[in-house]
Order: sequence, then C-alpha cells, then structure tokens
Amino acid sequence: MDKINFYNLISAIAISIDIGESSRMMEENVVESTTNLNYAKHKFTNHTKRVCYVSTEIGKIISNDKEFLKDLYVSSALHDIGISSNITDAHTEPDFIKLHCTKGSEFCLRLNFGESISTIIKYHHENYDGTSVFNIKGNDIPLISQIIRLADIFELLYDESVPNYLQRNSINKWILENKYTIFNSDIVDVYMDLQSHDRFWWDVENVGYIDNVLKNIRPEENLMMDMKGLKSISEVLADIIDSKSNFTYRHSSNLAEIISKIANYLNFDENKKTRFIVSALLHDIGKMGVPNSILNKNGKLNPTEITIMKSHTYYTRIILSQIEGIEDITNWASNHHEKLDGSGYPIGLKGKDLSLEERILAVCDIYEALSSKRPYKKALSKDEIFNIMNPMVTNGKICGQSLDILKEVI
Ligand SMILES: [Fe+2]
Ligand SMILES: [Fe+2]
Ligand SMILES: [Fe+2]
Ligand SMILES: [Fe+2]
Repeated sequence: MDKINFYNLISAIAISIDIGESSRMMEENVVESTTNLNYAKHKFTNHTKRVCYVSTEIGKIISNDKEFLKDLYVSSALHDIGISSNITDAHTEPDFIKLHCTKGSEFCLRLNFGESISTIIKYHHENYDGTSVFNIKGNDIPLISQIIRLADIFELLYDESVPNYLQRNSINKWILENKYTIFNSDIVDVYMDLQSHDRFWWDVENVGYIDNVLKNIRPEENLMMDMKGLKSISEVLADIIDSKSNFTYRHSSNLAEIISKIANYLNFDENKKTRFIVSALLHDIGKMGVPNSILNKNGKLNPTEITIMKSHTYYTRIILSQIEGIEDITNWASNHHEKLDGSGYPIGLKGKDLSLEERILAVCDIYEALSSKRPYKKALSKDEIFNIMNPMVTNGKICGQSLDILKEVI
C-alpha cells in the first residue's frame, strides 16, 4: 500500500504524546495556578484519547461543519504535543503551561497542519475570563481552544481508579462552579446536556481499551496521504525526538541520511527508499516514553534506568502499529536493537528472523551513535568506529554484510 490514512497517523502521534506525558509526569510537580489542578498526581495514560473524545462529542453538538470537526479532531488529538520536547527548564507553572502551548503551536506549523490548528493549540489553556497565561479573553480565544479547555480539565478531574458513576457529581460540580470564569458558559451548557446520557460516561470510562470509541468520532471522510507526505511529517517528528535529549542531537536525521545513501547503493525503488528512510526517521520515536532525566543523564545508567531506556523499542512498535499499511516500516524501526545471536531487545529475535533492512538499520544506528559527539565522549573517527564494530561481527552480534554495505557508502 502506498497510501496511509492521515487519521491513523494522528492516532499514532496522540499515543506517543500520552506515552510521553505518562513518563514525564513522574518527574514534574506542576500545579496550574488558576485551576489548582495538580498535574503530577494525574494518570496520563489515556489523557489525549479522552480529551479528543470529549472535545469531539461537544463539537458535534455545536456544529456539523466538516472543516470545523476535522480541525477539532486533529487539534484535540495533538493539543499537548508541545510536551514531547525537551522542556525540562519549565519546572514551574506558569512556565510549563506557557511553554508547552507555545512549543505545541510551533510544532503544528512545522508539521504543516495549518495556521488555525497551530493557534488553537497555542490557546488551549486560556480561561474565558482572560486570567490564564496569554491573557486572551472571551471569544478572542478560538472556539475550539475553549472546547479543548473544558475537555482537558474534565480529563484531569476524571480519576481512572474510580467507577464513573461515583465521580459524575463531583466533576460536574467543579465545571459548574467555573461556568462563568474558566469556561464559556454556552459550552458548559452543551457539556451538561452531553453528560446527561449514560453512554457518554461509559465511553469516557472505556476510551483506553475500546478502539471503537475513538474510531467512531473520527471525521467521516478518510484523508489519505502518500509516502512523501509521511516522510515530511516524519522529518519533523525525528527533530522532536532528537531534541528530547541534548545527547542525541540530529541522531535520527543523520541516520536517515545514511539510510538514504544505502537505499541508492542497493538500487531500491523510490517507494521502498522512502519507506526505509521513514523507518530511520522514526526508529527512536518510542523514546517519547523515556523520561528526559534518563535520556539526559550524564553518566552510567543503573539497571532500572537501562530497562526503562530499552522500552523505547517496545513503544516504537506500539506507536507505529497504529498506522495501517506501514507494517514493514514498523518492523524495521522496532527491531533496531535486536542482535543476530538473540541477545538484543525488545524481543530477542535471532538472525534468521531479521531482514536485511533490519540488520542494516541496526548497524547504521550503532555507527551514527559512535560517530557523533556526545557530552561524555568525542566523535570517533571511521577507523576507531570500525575497530569497535568489526569484532561485533565476529562475535555474531551484527551483520557483516550490512557493515560492508555501510563501509561502501560512507
Ligand atoms: Fe496542555
Ligand atoms: Fe492536556
Ligand atoms: Fe534506539
Ligand atoms: Fe537510535
């Protein structure tokens, strides 16, 4: 298949944001001053999914305009994308609130999702009375940002460990108390109507593990995207992943450059070449699920930290498997730390299970890491790198043929 469904890609990004938020919140203690909500105490596992569901259900009552509903779906699914970067400087509120809004809106522009989605994301923490970080007031705040504000707070109030029927009243009370300050009162009225149906609460409770809940709220018309489109979005995602850590600056994009040369050397056709490059750009996307404190640790990781670090390949598969039609890319990307002798991770596959593309990616990943300067080591020369990598071939860890191909192209 040469085309993918754009909304599957949005789901993949949304899941990577949730994985990132869950890991990040372990280390942050942020209390939003105008709501008093404690972000550190919340479980973010299904945050984006639930915000997307509640926003879209409110939006469907307000309007059936296709463009409006598409923008609402995409921006609610991406509203916290700014968190997926290195914002460790922002420990305090309102820095954290402001920075993830600004970063998120910048990312959306770079991802080419359009000016309006970018503006919506910038203002998703604004209060209707103008008391939040950018002091925008009333209907100067985009309508979709106002909807997301309510859905976002709803999600922060929602406690996954409590049955829905035991928390309906307390959540509604909070929202009604802030009807004329934080929220647009018309949107609160729509919400109150929506939540009066049991189905709403059942969906909210089950949003994490019932795929249909999210598939049902997608815009009706599928938007298809070709491999070139996926590649340009992947380039921006690669930048976001690389910028999570000072140590991996340009790692994914450098790897993609090497892979592009290899695809030419092996005479891959245009489609396969693009797919191979995309797998290089996204191979470490699972690092969204690794806390910045581990990615940026200046020194040896302890055994627990190593296990957490290793999980990035597992998350790469979870994120990419959202996108139908790129199963080859998903395999190549997720298996880049497997070793021929079965000592790799996350599965411990053996040489017989690993395709040439997977072997090449594994070899080039090591090469790129060794050839780059890191705070704790200098960039190694080609000779120094191959002095390290040649024995890995002899020891049955990496593929000799792939290493020879790499030596040919660089
Ligand atoms: Fe947010
Ligand atoms: Fe959020
Ligand atoms: Fe990796
Ligand atoms: Fe890597």
